[in-house]
Amino acid sequence: MVGIRANGSLRTLGATGSYVCSSCRARQARRVASIREYSSDSTPPNLILENRPYPTDAWTNVPSSIISALPRRLHLQPSHPIALTRRLIESRFPGFTTYSSFSPIVSVQQNFDSLGFPPDHPGRARSDTYYVNRDTVLRTHSSAHQADVFRADSSDGWLVSADVYRRDAIDRSHYPVFHQMEGARTWDRRRLATSASANGDLAQAIWDDVARLPTHDVVVEDPNPPTHPERNPLQANYHTPEEAEAVGAHLKRSLENVVVEVFAQAKRAAVAAGDAKAATEEPLKVRWVEAYFPFTSPSWELEVFWQNGWLEVLGSGVVKQELLVEAGVPQRVGWAFGLGLERIAMLLFGIPDIRLFWSRDPRFLDQFKSEVGEVGKGKVEGEGRIARFQPFSKYPASPRDVSFFLPSTSSPAGGRPVFHENDIMELVRDTAGDSVEDVQMVDEFVHPKTGRKSLCYRINYRSLERTLGREEVNELHEGISKKLVEGWGVELR
Ligand code: PHE
Repeated sequence: MVGIRANGSLRTLGATGSYVCSSCRARQARRVASIREYSSDSTPPNLILENRPYPTDAWTNVPSSIISALPRRLHLQPSHPIALTRRLIESRFPGFTTYSSFSPIVSVQQNFDSLGFPPDHPGRARSDTYYVNRDTVLRTHSSAHQADVFRADSSDGWLVSADVYRRDAIDRSHYPVFHQMEGARTWDRRRLATSASANGDLAQAIWDDVARLPTHDVVVEDPNPPTHPERNPLQANYHTPEEAEAVGAHLKRSLENVVVEVFAQAKRAAVAAGDAKAATEEPLKVRWVEAYFPFTSPSWELEVFWQNGWLEVLGSGVVKQELLVEAGVPQRVGWAFGLGLERIAMLLFGIPDIRLFWSRDPRFLDQFKSEVGEVGKGKVEGEGRIARFQPFSKYPASPRDVSFFLPSTSSPAGGRPVFHENDIMELVRDTAGDSVEDVQMVDEFVHPKTGRKSLCYRINYRSLERTLGREEVNELHEGISKKLVEGWGVELR
């Protein structure tokens, strides 16, 4: 069985913030023996999602913890940091049509097929994606709406903000629900006549638009050629090299402007909070790196140098023309991007733990409400404010280990789905909710005589809102151990 996201150069779903980083890719690749069909005996005949029944089948794998997150829509909560980040970015794209309330329940066709994901693409695996049933998923990225929005053909530029869902590890920067913003800018070949200087020349019309974009003075590292025959090919059937180069230039400048603005605001908030270091910090450094997505070519990721390392903030590229043809707008040519809002919000507000976004604690939420009568400074369109997060306390951590043997009878070659580390992550999440800060495998070995595999996971219990009692932690931990035995047939050690 091929490890998910471990297949070398081929990206699975790309890299927009909290999803694919190289360390988690390695972790995700750890698969152990197959055990049992996902709770098929306990799955009800229908799942009620957003007041609608969806028939379940052998593909269904949406747990209750995820169902209860569906109505939250953090990107729409006034003065929530995710919503403020969304609006800050939207403000950098004047004239773009914005959509932020598409349903997260989409078809496999929308999420994968329309974007050209091959049938055996690892991103489609049940270990990574929440299936409502065989044909329906919780969107794993905002790109699920690209084809539909292009088909509506309502404007040259659009933005879609969305809650997205991926089965994933648990740690301070990963959460199975997060938020993305998708954006696209296209040009209509048929309307070029209106552009005087371009005179029917698409590349020239795009360069004219590049010249109208704001400039910035941040150093950008971009050693990449506009296209590369193997690594980042031109769509030669559809675009001239000049057209692809102009689209790429417009894309890069537009997105650099977003990042420059976000970091300027982050610095302003830090200085206002009395962080003297922020004022003298090194200037912002960004770089473009080549990437691969099934629905763009050429493709790039934008990385930002932040706290001693390069951080991916978005994926982007020239939209595959097949997608636009399929969406009924063959005359359009342009670019698209997708970025992770949590990752940007964590930098912008200095938020150290992704679980905080889900907190309903007023000590968290009230920090971003604008004060009555406050004007201007740090405010986004009059609602809420970009302020440095002030930790309200750090409660003690309670680590507990659970060690177990996997059942010896299971065989990954037996045609059953392979047990995945994400299955344990989900069991923990379903039992202990946000009281768990992270879960890590600390030991793994195969017994030399019996050939049975043993695993040990360290579960770190810590609430963001209060001190967890010892009894309470023990009870949660016992609940998890019990479910491992009952649900997966493991033998505790
Ligand atoms: N959907 C991709 C991801 O989730 C990002 C992306 C969007 C890349 C649009 C290219 C164009 O990683």
